[in-house]
Amino acid sequence: MLSQPGLPLEDVKMCIGVVGCGQMGSGIAQLAAVNGCEVWLHDADSMALSKARKSISSRIENLVLKGNLTKEKGTEAIRNLRCTSNLEDFHSADMVIEAIMESEDVKKKLFVQLDNIVKSSSILASNTSSISITRLASVTSRPSQVIGMHFMNPPPVMKLVEIIRGASTSDDTFNATKSLAERFGKKIVCSQDFSGFIVNRVLMPMINEAFYALYTGVATKEDIDAGMKLGTNHPMGPLELADHIGLDVCLSIMKVLHAGLGDSKYLPCPLLVQYVDAGRLGRKKGVGVYNYSKI
Ligand code: CAA
Repeated sequence: MLSQPGLPLEDVKMCIGVVGCGQMGSGIAQLAAVNGCEVWLHDADSMALSKARKSISSRIENLVLKGNLTKEKGTEAIRNLRCTSNLEDFHSADMVIEAIMESEDVKKKLFVQLDNIVKSSSILASNTSSISITRLASVTSRPSQVIGMHFMNPPPVMKLVEIIRGASTSDDTFNATKSLAERFGKKIVCSQDFSGFIVNRVLMPMINEAFYALYTGVATKEDIDAGMKLGTNHPMGPLELADHIGLDVCLSIMKVLHAGLGDSKYLPCPLLVQYVDAGRLGRKKGVGVYNYSKI
């Protein structure tokens, strides 16, 4: 292991901890396992964890069936993945990637815990979609080893990782994180630590505006989505994409943009707020802008 902050050299098996086994955490764990890392996937909810393990294994088996991964690599990837509800198991992790709920308070509590558990050379990364890396780093004793590593949903498919440097993130931490993203086969972009970073600074106002278009009766949801899909070559329309991301996640990012940038143009659309209040959180709940219960 390196004594300086950083990750082990290529020929040493890295140990990656992933916190949170939702869509993002399990996708990140899959990427790490398939790319030859030892992985600890943590979630407090053991039922959710066993569901995540099953779906990661079946996605890896599909990669083998489709010929995208050799049988040996598939078997090794499944063997690489260990699940735990005990954060202490992260003591040997070279890097921990946090993918829990978008709450600054909850993330800060987790970073304090992780800081006390992982070895001094470990990097603490957050998959946050918009929360300040500088503020998360400030609760640890290692702010130079804290960084944003923002995957896109679904992580195994999307080509990008957005890397966010906090005010104190060191060059060693940045370079090690970039190498890991590249090892996962991703292209990286680098953002300064301002609300929403690059992708959500641009994407979320578009999604929010699509909700305003629906709310004010400009068009039907189907026409708003078809307009953007066919008219601007987006793979999904903005409302369908909001359901894919999760309406609760979209709302919390709009709130972070509004609070952090202070401009009323970032105010969440009342219809988005109402859907979240009603528990219409998107695909994961079977209903959001669209109803998926019959699919
Ligand atoms: N996990 C792993 N793999 C998945 C997956 C998932 N959840 N969903 C789909 N895939 C895989 C499929 O297995 C399939 O693989 P093969 O090509 O090897 O068969 C491939 O992705 C394509 O899937 P489908 O054929 O089922 O569907 P599709 O062609 O419609 O593609 C999509 C699905 C990739 C999600 C595509 O619709 C898309 O790119 N949508 C836009 C997604 C996007 O913009 N994501 C970023 C959101 S922003 C964000 O995440 C940041 C944030 O902070 C909110």
